[in-house]
This record gives sequence, structure tokens and C-alpha cells, in this order.
Amino acid sequence: MTAATAAAKQATMAEQADIHELYQESVQNAEFELDFMQKTFKQWNKRKPKSMREDFCGTALAACEWVARDALNTAVGVDFEKSVLDWGRENNVSRLTAEQLSRLELIQDDVLEVNTGKFDMVQAFNFSYWGFKRREVMVRYFRGLREALVDDGLLFLDFFGGSECYQTQKEKRKIDDFRYNFKYIWEQAEFNALTNDLTCHIHFHFPDKSKLKKAFTYEWRVWGPAEIRDILEEAGYSKHAIYRQKFDPKTDEPLDEYIMTDKGEDYACWLGYIVAQK
Ligand SMILES: C[S@@+](CC[C@H](N)C(=O)[O-])C[C@H]1O[C@@H](n2cnc3c(N)ncnc32)[C@H](O)[C@@H]1O
Repeated sequence: MTAATAAAKQATMAEQADIHELYQESVQNAEFELDFMQKTFKQWNKRKPKSMREDFCGTALAACEWVARDALNTAVGVDFEKSVLDWGRENNVSRLTAEQLSRLELIQDDVLEVNTGKFDMVQAFNFSYWGFKRREVMVRYFRGLREALVDDGLLFLDFFGGSECYQTQKEKRKIDDFRYNFKYIWEQAEFNALTNDLTCHIHFHFPDKSKLKKAFTYEWRVWGPAEIRDILEEAGYSKHAIYRQKFDPKTDEPLDEYIMTDKGEDYACWLGYIVAQK
């Protein structure tokens, strides 16, 4: 084989890449989110949370991080997709000690149907609950979660807002703190202005010009925080609050800081959390 044929046969970066690894690197920040949850729980309840359920857990990154950060912590992760749970078991769960592992359970089930015990905290992040497009289904989901919370338990949801979430658009971000550089592309490919249905894709681009197109696709309804708070009330939650991302007043750049507020300035795109108490 000539050197040229060997080079031509070499797999591209896209062919060698692992989409779950790239997803964890570019999308998730379990440490930051667990810090936020822990701090908020202590502020609301004047005690430390111990048990957590991670809904739509995927690779169970947050559940693994939760049991690793304190010997008293327990976690349950729920996802209905076997392949992503298997990836999590091989790559995240395998890094835990036997003792940490004894405080973790991963369940393959639908979050609408699953029957777990009760938890101090439940998290449903990365907008996965927006997959429930009908109000009655969202009410059912929140009622079920309420049953899965202890008396002072807290539910944590995330959301994004601003004019840009009601349109098609592409956003690129360079990831340069991984083994190799790559680009993460968030595409809002279709938006239905009557139903708020949004089709989104995640693509990855590599320095050798190879691409992983539509590595992940999501079919969501864009729910506004006011609607979600109404539904939480209907589902019986006693208290709820919004924590909105702060912006640098000088540069208008978003900051990694969230403040409890009911005032949403008219930025084109912002992130937030909704926290609800049983
Ligand atoms: C965007 S990933 C979220 C991964 C991770 N939790 C995060 O914050 O990035 C969505 C996951 O939700 C799972 N999923 C979607 N609908 C579900 C349902 N009704 N019940 C259980 N899992 C579901 C999918 O299999 C997928 O792994």
C-alpha cells in the first residue's frame, strides 16, 4: 500500500469521535449545576440535600458526580434509552469506587411512568422536559415528580428564552479544552410560530474538515417560564421561583451567575432555572 492510499484510508476525526463524549464536553457542566442545586437547597431548607434523581439522565454524568462528591449522597438516574445508559455505565459509572457505586442506581424507564423512591432533589436539565408538548402530559409529569419528592424537596428545571428561541438560527462555539479542538454547532432548524414546535440539531465539526451532522436531534415545544409556573401550581407545588442568568452590565455578555428574580430584561437569548418546592 502506498503512503498516499494509507493516508486516504485513515479514519477522519468525525469517524473516530464518540458523540456522547463530545456532548458531555460541549453541553454539560454537571459540577456547576450541582453546586447551584446544593446552594439553593441549603438556602431554601437550611439543611444539606443528600438524595437526588436525575431525569433524562443520558450518560448519568450528574448522578455519578453527585455520589462522588459526598459519602452521604445517593442518586438515581432515569432514561428510557438503553444505549446511552450503557455508554454511561462503561465511561462514567466505571470511574466510581465500589462504595460510590453502592449509592447509585440507573433505571431504564420512561420518566412519565417510573416509580422511584422519594428524593431531596430532582433535576430535569437540558430542556428535555420540553419533549412533552401537551399541557396535560406536562401536568402529569410534574404531579409524578411531586410524589417523588420528600416534604421539603425541590424540583430543578432549566429553560432558555429571549427572541432568538422563537426562530431558526445556528450558533457555533469552539471547544479548545478537550484532547483535540472541535466546533459545537447548535442549530434551531425549524420553528412553528403557531405551535411553538422547535426542531433542533447538534452538529460537530473537526479540524480535519470532517463533520458529524445531526449527532443529536430534539423535537421540543418552547415553553415559557410563566406557563411552566402555572402548570407547576396546577400540579400542586407550594412555591416556585425563577433564577435568571446575569449579564455583564458593561459588555452585555452572559455570566455564569444566576439570580432569583421576576424581572426578565429583553435580551435576545438567556438561560434560567425554575425551582419548585413540593
Ligand atoms: C438531551 S439528553 C439529556 C442528557 C443530560 N441529562 C443533560 O442534561 O444533558 C435527553 C435524554 O432524555 C432521554 N429521554 C427523552 N424522553 C424521555 C422519557 N420520556 N423518559 C426517559 N428518558 C427520556 C433521552 O433518551 C436522552 O438520553
